[in-house]
Amino acid sequence: MRAFQNLATPCFIIDNQEFQRSIIGFQEALNSRFVRSSVGYSVKTNSLPYCLQMANEKGCFAEVVSADEYELALRCGFVKDRIIYNGPMKSHDTFIDAIINGAIVNLETHREIDWLKDLPNDDIFKVGLRLNVNITKVSPEDADCFDDNSRFGFSDGTDDFHEAIEQLSKLSNIKLSGLHIHRTAHSRSINFYRNSIRFACETINKYDLNLDYLDIGGGYFGIFSDKPTYQQYADSFKDILSEYGLDNLEVIVEPGNALVASCFSFLTEVIDVKHVERDLWFITTDGSRNDIDPFFRKTDYLKELITEGSDVIVGQQIITGCTCLESDRLFTMTQSPLLRIGDRIRYNNVGAYTMCLTPMFIRYLPAVYSWDGEDYRLVRDRWTVIEYLQKSIVL
Ligand SMILES: Cc1ncc(COP(=O)(O)O)c(C=O)c1O
Repeated sequence: MRAFQNLATPCFIIDNQEFQRSIIGFQEALNSRFVRSSVGYSVKTNSLPYCLQMANEKGCFAEVVSADEYELALRCGFVKDRIIYNGPMKSHDTFIDAIINGAIVNLETHREIDWLKDLPNDDIFKVGLRLNVNITKVSPEDADCFDDNSRFGFSDGTDDFHEAIEQLSKLSNIKLSGLHIHRTAHSRSINFYRNSIRFACETINKYDLNLDYLDIGGGYFGIFSDKPTYQQYADSFKDILSEYGLDNLEVIVEPGNALVASCFSFLTEVIDVKHVERDLWFITTDGSRNDIDPFFRKTDYLKELITEGSDVIVGQQIITGCTCLESDRLFTMTQSPLLRIGDRIRYNNVGAYTMCLTPMFIRYLPAVYSWDGEDYRLVRDRWTVIEYLQKSIVL
């Protein structure tokens, strides 16, 4: 247990209540409209074991996309039939293991269809199929570009999807039980889900598929006052599925960003203040852009300054990270009180696709604390050179 001022920087902080509120919010919205529904926690979005454990406790599935993530989910307490296994990076052995043990496995590659032949013949095994979704064709208003195509799933624009179904139908021990349609549209709009579910329903009817579930994937907004709510998403799913008489399907969602973005913040401290040109100051902090903007695309952040305040107003302060990259510059302040060593900056909403994409550059993974409304608790110690060296063979 620690007080805020004693947290060692740089560190991430997870707000437990916010995380749980988001999971439960989505579950309740789906439960209000469907007899059968499931929320799969997108492990790739933030694979911190603490998050996986909490998602498991709250009744989520783990949505995994590689053999490593599959093993991680098991180690974090998920049982095999509470795993959704997607993506092209499944290993043969985990693929077979997952199917035999009742995981939801959505086929992504032709090699996986071949691997099905390695399943025993004395039982019936269920699999799902990922359908390729071109946003420009399915929901043009939500497309990012003139041809917002996808490299994932089997396409019904060619023979691929049809052939996949044919191949599955020839395997007497395989039952096609689900369709998977994940895309993240930048708009995250209700309209996008209405259109993509319509596309899924039309495909189901076109091939007369008798399925158990529709996996709608991720791509939703989290809880924000000015954005679509989980209830509105669930209502739109219900509307379209009912139109096609398919609202008896189990509805599965795989939110990543929606569940973890807003419950994480990143705390850094000023370690140096440099006056470089007449009106230009560089403020070096112990965090890095690598920690919260691994693609180096953001130009600003939702941030709070925790400072004693200063009377010195300066023209321009550029807040930088601790690496030796010139581009490790986080944001700029103009005509503002000069920051001082020991001042802190807290970046909010930084839980999605940050911690799991951080490179091992210059210093290793930062500590993570959880906040339960009263106390902070260390849930991952910072990685030191000991962790970095652990698999080295030659020293
Ligand atoms: C298959 C799949 N499901 C779910 C997600 C989570 O998406 P989001 O973070 O946009 O909710 C992703 C993200 O890439 C994905 O690839």
